[in-house]
Amino acid sequence: MIIVPKNIVTVDGKDRILKNHFVEIENGKIISIKQNDEKYFSKNKQRVFRFDDLTLIPGFVQTHIHLCQTLFRGLADDLELLDWLQLRIFPYENAHNKNSLLSSVRLGINELLLSGTTTLLDMGTLRHQEVIFEELQSSGIRAIAGKCLIDENNLFPAFKSDTESEIDEIYQLARTYHNTSNGKIKYGFAPRFVLSSSEKLLKESFEMKKDFEGSLYHTHSSENKDEIAEVKRRHKKENIEYFDSIGVIDDHSVFAHCIHVNDKETNLLKKNNVRVSHCPSSNLKLGSGIANIPKYLQKGISVSLGADGAPCNNNLSVFNEMRLAALIQKPVHGPLAMDAKTVFKLATIEGAKALHLHNEIGSIEVGKKADLVLLDLNTNMHSMSENDETIYSDIVYTSSSDSVNSVMIEGEWKILNKKSLLYDQKELNQTSKDELKKLLKRVKN
Ligand code: GUN
Ligand code: FE
Repeated sequence: MIIVPKNIVTVDGKDRILKNHFVEIENGKIISIKQNDEKYFSKNKQRVFRFDDLTLIPGFVQTHIHLCQTLFRGLADDLELLDWLQLRIFPYENAHNKNSLLSSVRLGINELLLSGTTTLLDMGTLRHQEVIFEELQSSGIRAIAGKCLIDENNLFPAFKSDTESEIDEIYQLARTYHNTSNGKIKYGFAPRFVLSSSEKLLKESFEMKKDFEGSLYHTHSSENKDEIAEVKRRHKKENIEYFDSIGVIDDHSVFAHCIHVNDKETNLLKKNNVRVSHCPSSNLKLGSGIANIPKYLQKGISVSLGADGAPCNNNLSVFNEMRLAALIQKPVHGPLAMDAKTVFKLATIEGAKALHLHNEIGSIEVGKKADLVLLDLNTNMHSMSENDETIYSDIVYTSSSDSVNSVMIEGEWKILNKKSLLYDQKELNQTSKDELKKLLKRVKN
């Protein structure tokens, strides 16, 4: 396949922005990036896709998502974290059956693809995790996912499992799904957070990732003041200090949020090369706080972006996360903090690095997988400047999911000219409404 865009934001080592160049793809990989050649195009007519007005960028990477929660959008607004979990999210997740979970996952994947996200790290849910994996596989999206582990739950006791069966189940799931779909699907061990996990579960799930090369450890940390006060009451330590004390942090650990983190813990994140997943919309909407991202970046700590779940956002588009990631820091750290280019890289190459996938994705370079997005930056809303650098500003400050025209993963179109080649939105909406209605009845009973 030959893709001929207006320009290419490569995010390569030199952050080159190319004009008059095309990308050639074979077997899902980028095999060349060359100057436009009309003779070559006419010789290979059937393989040429011309997008003369569109900007080609790497597919976005989101490092903290809950696909199982998409169905609950709008049903848990205006609550702080522990109430949000206790009163709404745990009861709803607890009421999932396979059909409602499938609807939720499809809604989520569809929304993510339509807004240009091609890789995600998903937290999973307590039951029916195989439904999530099967849909990830059949959609063709790139994902690291895993069963959400809960073996203690004072907030909503019905929503938990026992330690031994959790451990048995994840071993089987990782054996079944890790490194499937040509390596597009990987396993992520996912204890929910300290308040819902025994020490044994936290440690054993961490140890297990060593049996599955390329798998990750994914949890929530230091999100909310009441949460960390309870962690301190139970364990006499701050959240990240506690993780460190039981030996569950390393460079394959992705911690979502990391808002209430002291200097000692910041040094632990740095020393252990932990990956911070920054979720600005969720952090604002749940009133959790503002993570000190400029400080993390200045110390060289890995930061990437995630929309978290639909009921704490209420939108899965990475464009909102980029815009907020930039804007919320400026009143505190000054307008130079979090410039558009830095933020765009958090959503692409830095996300890929966080997941250890930077040799495959995150930039447009020969040898990488063809996970690509075409953006329309020509509407009245966009910048009229021809200066290359305004492209980052246009994407981060101005664009939205509406700007996404086409999306490809490993050389396969998933969205073409704004239409999903996977899902029928009308059908998805109808099934989801039916499933939600039934789920809410189950919650009442
Ligand atoms: N902490 C534990 N579970 C969750 C969750 O589902 N969402 C968020 N934002 N924080 C959590
Ligand atoms: Fe989350």
